[in-house]
Amino acid sequence: MEWNAVLYDNKHDFVAEYGKDLLEFIPKDKKQVILDLGCGTGTLTAKLTDFCNQIIGVDSSQTMIAKARENLKNIENIKFQVCNALDLPFEQEFDVVFSNAVFHWIANHDMLLKNIYYALKPTGLLICEFGANGNIAIIENAFAKACKDFGYDYQSKFHFPTVENFRNLLENHKFMINKIYDFDRPTVLKDGQQGLNHWIKQFFASELKAIPETIQAMIIRKTEDLTRKKLWNGKEWIADYRRLRVIANK
Ligand code: BEZ
Repeated sequence: MEWNAVLYDNKHDFVAEYGKDLLEFIPKDKKQVILDLGCGTGTLTAKLTDFCNQIIGVDSSQTMIAKARENLKNIENIKFQVCNALDLPFEQEFDVVFSNAVFHWIANHDMLLKNIYYALKPTGLLICEFGANGNIAIIENAFAKACKDFGYDYQSKFHFPTVENFRNLLENHKFMINKIYDFDRPTVLKDGQQGLNHWIKQFFASELKAIPETIQAMIIRKTEDLTRKKLWNGKEWIADYRRLRVIANK
């Protein structure tokens, strides 16, 4: 997926906003070294500097890393690096691997956990949160139906595991699980009536790209019609987010 870093910062900053809840799980040890895996434009990376001596933010998107560097150029103990989560060049370097709203973009969770395990120091901590099974099911089902009505096939590119599946994976990689649970996080989308439209344009951009603009607009309108009863409260669109949260030691 090609990321629009400006749109992401302006319209979808709730991603980092909610991620702040995760910070409470970080040990208060100023000497630690942290990896922010999938750091985006660096909003949470900046917050993580309060908890460490050194932090590296990595993201597979050049655009996101460029924006993160620009946003945080005055902070000394942060480094940013373009890097794929399935190809991390780190060996026993981090006390904490932190990741918010990233794992659901990655198909191979097995390889991902292998890389993270390798990157952590002995007894290092994985703190992560991402989409759980059922995340955005109402939006995706409606979008798939709307696409179908106009002759297009929607295949989800997301990976939202169950707690059981992810627990098994963690255990296979010898992580010691402190916490693993899922929960609903209804998420207000910005921009009132336009909220779902903007969300769809950002996150289904690669699917929409292949469709003529007039049809795109009809698909989005149909998706709104199909979800209005459940996701529109008269003032705002509320996306049906569900989170899976994990705290686990190497
Ligand atoms: C999420 O954070 O759950 C999410 C964001 C964009 C697309 C799909 C899921």
